[in-house]
Amino acid sequence: MCKTNHELPAVSHGDNVMVPEEFLIDKIRKNTEDTFTMDLVRLTKKEPFKFLPGQFNMLYINGVGEIPISISGDPSITDYITHTTRVVGSVTRGMRRLKINQTIGVRGPFGRPWPIKEAVGNDVVLVAGGIGLAPLRPVIYHILKHRKKYGRVVILYGTRTPDDILYRQELEQWRGRFDMNVSVTVDRGDNSWHSHVGVVTKLIPNAPFDPLNTIAMTCGPEVMMRYTAMSLIEMGLPMEHIYVSLERNMKCGVGLCGHCQYTDKFICKDGPVFTYDQIKNIFNKREI
Ligand SMILES: Cc1cc2nc3c(=O)[nH]c(=O)nc-3n(C[C@H](O)[C@H](O)[C@H](O)COP(=O)(O)OP(=O)(O)OC[C@H]3O[C@@H](n4cnc5c(N)ncnc54)[C@H](O)[C@@H]3O)c2cc1C
Ligand code: FES
Repeated sequence: MCKTNHELPAVSHGDNVMVPEEFLIDKIRKNTEDTFTMDLVRLTKKEPFKFLPGQFNMLYINGVGEIPISISGDPSITDYITHTTRVVGSVTRGMRRLKINQTIGVRGPFGRPWPIKEAVGNDVVLVAGGIGLAPLRPVIYHILKHRKKYGRVVILYGTRTPDDILYRQELEQWRGRFDMNVSVTVDRGDNSWHSHVGVVTKLIPNAPFDPLNTIAMTCGPEVMMRYTAMSLIEMGLPMEHIYVSLERNMKCGVGLCGHCQYTDKFICKDGPVFTYDQIKNIFNKREI
């Protein structure tokens, strides 16, 4: 049976957590029309940059602003960090204008990670929508590295169109493995699309996992996460085995400013990963 100890390890920060550290932009890849991935290398420190899957950094662009972006790379790689960003507004637009060899400010890693320890010995179901695959990708790398520790692994991914699919090559590789079940669906297909069409939650009832021994992690638009949780609950998953990652406006990222506070919870510090039972009442409330 699943363990339900949600006291996840805290991550300590030696220096002043409010001062961004300068990182060099080493690589930039365009993922889709509005999404790109950057690899960032430490400039001023020699220590490895360690993080846990699900954690985020505050990325600072001089003269533009600072925003939270999840780390989307492999947690076993510590000499550079990877972020995948969708352009939606002023800071993300400013970030897209940056070029290789320019610098960017980084504070982090912050936040509670996905339950990779709790999931050991269980089936794992990952349900992602759109850019939501980025914060879950480190979980996939971690599971692949420790594959024997986990039961069946199911990845369900949905996007609006085939052109919006992130990490296409990796998805193909993962789909080709005998020890992973990967399904991708789109809201609207095109002539080249010969796979699932429809919302990602439609894939859940046919996915191979044991609801009583499963940890589910979901990330994407809140309405998608809510329907995912409802579908998993209907199949018998306890609410406390369903984990979601919440997005709210953040300023400090470390529980100081109160910008992301809801009741006694700070999304930045107590989350962004929560069990569904912890946060089901604040879904769809943008201003908290
Ligand atoms: C913990 C955490 C992790 C995150 N990880 C990622 C990540 O890995 N990759 C990523 O691309 N984003 C991620 N985000 C979201 C990202 O922080 C926002 O998209 C960003 O702050 C927008 O800043 P902006 O100045 O470009 O847009 P703003 O100028 O702040 O917003 C412009 C417009 O876009 C809308 N908007 C803002 N955010 C979003 C959004 N997420 N989706 C749709 N519309 C939005 C606003 O309501 C506004 O209308 C994360 C957020 C949090 C809290
Ligand atoms: S962003 Fe400041 S308390 Fe969460």
